Amino acid sequence: MKRSLMLACAAVLAVLAFAQAKDESLFRLPKPMAAPPQPADNPMTPAKVALGRLLYFDKRLSKDATVSCATCHDPNKGWTDQAPVSTGIRGQHGTRNAPTVLNAAYSDYQFWDGRAASLEEQAAGPIGNPVEMGFNARGVEARLSKIEGYRPLFAAAFGDKKVTLERVVKAIASFERTAITGDSPYDRYEAGDRTALSADQQAGMALFFGKANCSVCHTGPNFTDGDFHNIGVGMAAKRPDLGRYEQTKLERDRGAFKTPTLRNLADTFPYMHDGSVKTLAEVVDFYDKGGEKNPWLSSDIHPLGLTAREKRQLVAFLGALNGDKVAAAAPKSFPR
Ligand code: HEC
Ligand code: HEC
Repeated sequence: MKRSLMLACAAVLAVLAFAQAKDESLFRLPKPMAAPPQPADNPMTPAKVALGRLLYFDKRLSKDATVSCATCHDPNKGWTDQAPVSTGIRGQHGTRNAPTVLNAAYSDYQFWDGRAASLEEQAAGPIGNPVEMGFNARGVEARLSKIEGYRPLFAAAFGDKKVTLERVVKAIASFERTAITGDSPYDRYEAGDRTALSADQQAGMALFFGKANCSVCHTGPNFTDGDFHNIGVGMAAKRPDLGRYEQTKLERDRGAFKTPTLRNLADTFPYMHDGSVKTLAEVVDFYDKGGEKNPWLSSDIHPLGLTAREKRQLVAFLGALNGDKVAAAAPKSFPR
């Protein structure tokens, strides 16, 4: 009896060890990125990631089957759509720029205004958004349940073939947690390769962490403090997007938006929450003049007095943050 119990335990442990090993291989973690946190109720498994990848690219998640997550967050475009604002079903335009999904797994808040607390919660947003995918839980569940090819995949990921919106977003979030970028020239320089940055990039790095004050907000391995700030973007408009304020109704949050990552900027243009800035040179000019004056401007934003040469060096440094592009090819075919 004791012996059989021990054998059973050993078998369970072996299975667990195997699951663990598989789990590790799910992450390609380019240096210096750590494994992103996973919610306790949605641990990553190979089956979930595989299902999530299909769902991420599957246009049938939108009401008229014309738009997928990848339409606006295309891995070939830095996991964005490279447009000022996105186009959803029936050609409708939103008002905000699609942020990259790369390294979104590290954020405590999703969206420019932080209105979702997890990737799982976030993913339900666009599916139900009338301008984006225009669908709803019941619609998605009914449609996917009818697709026979999805049944074994849901069963492998969740234990049975039942399709729920909760499972859909859990699988998509698991896939998104594999979209991790790092290993840029800057990272290699920091790891000791003194040839990884040009002289201009090194000078730009000193400005970034010094005189130009950028690292006050763009800090840590993902170059964001995860917080919300008003730097003045769009504040000259008649009815500006008030960003974080719409969520908190706190006066100090008026016109504040989430600090975005600065990794892979070469692919994630145009910039800012409204996609209003086309180039990194223009971004640096914007900061140099002290952002856009308004009553709620962050006290960390002020004129910088950079010379033309220093501005070029700062732009060169931002270019040193382009790393791993994280390819994810669209599936060749979808479950039928
Ligand atoms: C029609 C275009 C469109 C579609 C389709 C779309 N998104 Fe987005 N996505 C956006 C825009 C625009 C935002 C920013 C909106 C905001 O902040 O209010 C965004 C925000 C996000 C964010 C937050 C990133 C951050 O840094 O805060 C994630 C993650 C994301 N989308 C993933 C997805 C997933 C997963 C899907 C599919 C279920 C999806 N998106 C479908 C346009 C789109
Ligand atoms: C007070 C905090 C703060 C400081 C200081 C700061 N930033 Fe930002 N940065 C932000 C926020 C917040 C946004 C998004 C603003 C928006 O869209 O309304 C942003 C956006 C950006 C973007 C656009 C990224 C994208 O994907 O759209 C770049 C590039 C950038 N900052 C670079 C810099 C540089 C370079 C410096 C130093 C000269 C700097 N930032 C200083 C908070 C800050």
